[in-house]
Amino acid sequence: MQDLLHQIDNTRLPRHIAIIMDGNGRWAKEQGHDRLYGHYKGVESVRNIVEGCAELGIEYLTLYAFSTENWDRPEYEVVGLMELLVKTIRNEVETLKKNNIRLHVIGDMEMLPQHAQNELTEAKEITKGNTGLNLVMALSYSGRWEIQNVIKSIAKEVEKGSLSPEDIDQEIVQKHLCTRNFPDPELMIRTSGEYRISNFLLYQLAYSELYFTPVLWPEFRKNNLYEAIIDFQGRERRFGKTSEQVTEPVGSTPNP
Ligand code: IPE
Ligand code: IPE
Ligand code: MG
Repeated sequence: MQDLLHQIDNTRLPRHIAIIMDGNGRWAKEQGHDRLYGHYKGVESVRNIVEGCAELGIEYLTLYAFSTENWDRPEYEVVGLMELLVKTIRNEVETLKKNNIRLHVIGDMEMLPQHAQNELTEAKEITKGNTGLNLVMALSYSGRWEIQNVIKSIAKEVEKGSLSPEDIDQEIVQKHLCTRNFPDPELMIRTSGEYRISNFLLYQLAYSELYFTPVLWPEFRKNNLYEAIIDFQGRERRFGKTSEQVTEPVGSTPNP
């Protein structure tokens, strides 16, 4: 693991890493357990990866924890996941505070049970003065839900007369995203061998480098994170230009 760590160029780290934490159910099944056991084990990976990102000095880590579509899972799983969320936030908030990590949440908070909303609001409040890693939890989130809201709120401004349709540009769109205060992810990791986006950050991933690994989320650890970063650092990010035109080193993004 130290070996992998030494291969990382600390001057070219991604500022923002986004992860689709997938494979909890399959991992549990492999072990002969219920799906919820996989979700419980997945929390250990979250802890390990948050710690790994904080140690490296990554500025933003977005974790896709529950999608809009996940509400359609069997009720016992949804209820179990919500309980796990509340319990985890409660258990981890002091560690977040101590480690200078600031918690953010993106997604349709109103869909969450009231006690989960309260727990999250409190944890955000407790960590709001922290200046280290920004940990962004995507909960009841989907890219299409977000884009729909962006359109609604821009339409309201037009209706009010504070914005004219001609003035709508990418800067305005950016200002209405849930991630308006964060740069776009340079690196998006998905575990469990699935090669899809599953309605994650559809707008923000436009130029992200995508990294797919067969490792199931409950087994994903810092060494896997390091491998993903090393792979990222070996890529040439062209943003539509030719290879010759690109002189900037990997890792620098023309983000707002
Ligand atoms: C990811 O693991 C966690 C959530 C979507 C909440 P899954 O529960 O999707 O696990 P698999 O994909 O069924 O193995
Ligand atoms: C994506 O995983 C959502 C999260 C990890 C929270 P899913 O397991 O829900 O995605 P699909 O159904 O395989 O596309
Ligand atoms: Mg899955």
